[in-house]
Amino acid sequence: MTKINGRKVLITAGPTYEAIDPVRFIGNRSSGKQGYAIANALAQHGAEVTLISGPSALPAPENVNVIRVETALEMLEACENALPADIGIFTAAVSDWRPKTSQSHKIKKRDDNTPPTIELIENPDILKTISHAKNRPSLVIGFAAETEKLLENAKSKRARKGCDCILANDVSGGKTFGTDQNHVWCITSEDQSDWGAMTKCEVAQNLVQWINSNL
Ligand code: CTP
Repeated sequence: MTKINGRKVLITAGPTYEAIDPVRFIGNRSSGKQGYAIANALAQHGAEVTLISGPSALPAPENVNVIRVETALEMLEACENALPADIGIFTAAVSDWRPKTSQSHKIKKRDDNTPPTIELIENPDILKTISHAKNRPSLVIGFAAETEKLLENAKSKRARKGCDCILANDVSGGKTFGTDQNHVWCITSEDQSDWGAMTKCEVAQNLVQWINSNL
């Protein structure tokens, strides 16, 4: 029996879609595979898992309560509603920006061929918000998607966001997004360790062990 049994876990996964108009959106290449694998692994260890997922083609893992959302604002609201929780894990590739206004009609091409200008505003940082919430989970874990200076950027990201641990991965050149493979470094305030190249399911199993030792 592990310490995870019976613990309440909140996990975000997948991309967010930010509407430009009824047919277009700003999104990204996240598949949700890593977050779904973590949800599945924790549920198998007896955790009570709520998976807050952006648009993803993946089926709901067994014994996991899946809440489907589309936008960053909906994801944040669903996370706040899922508190209190013992553990928060933030794997979602949340869109950093959203169009300031979403048009209610399809934007049409103009006769003079000038493209529309779409003004963006920043989305809330869900991991940072939950890390600083009054009812913060006792263990908060983030991910860092980097294309350069992996360790340096991930270390400052962990401190800035206020999470206990960040799993950093290199997403340059089509690595990671949409694939079954991942190569993460596990970074805390005291420590950094290279978990090596493995499948996303193996990363999930490693994380279960890490949580079990750090709860
Ligand atoms: N994250 C979040 N809400 C956001 C942006 C990011 O919860 N609005 C979370 C992600 O789920 C991840 C962590 O923050 O756990 C880092 O995400 P990442 O995309 O690597 O970093 P950003 O905060 O977007 O910073 P930058 O794009 O400058 O690297």
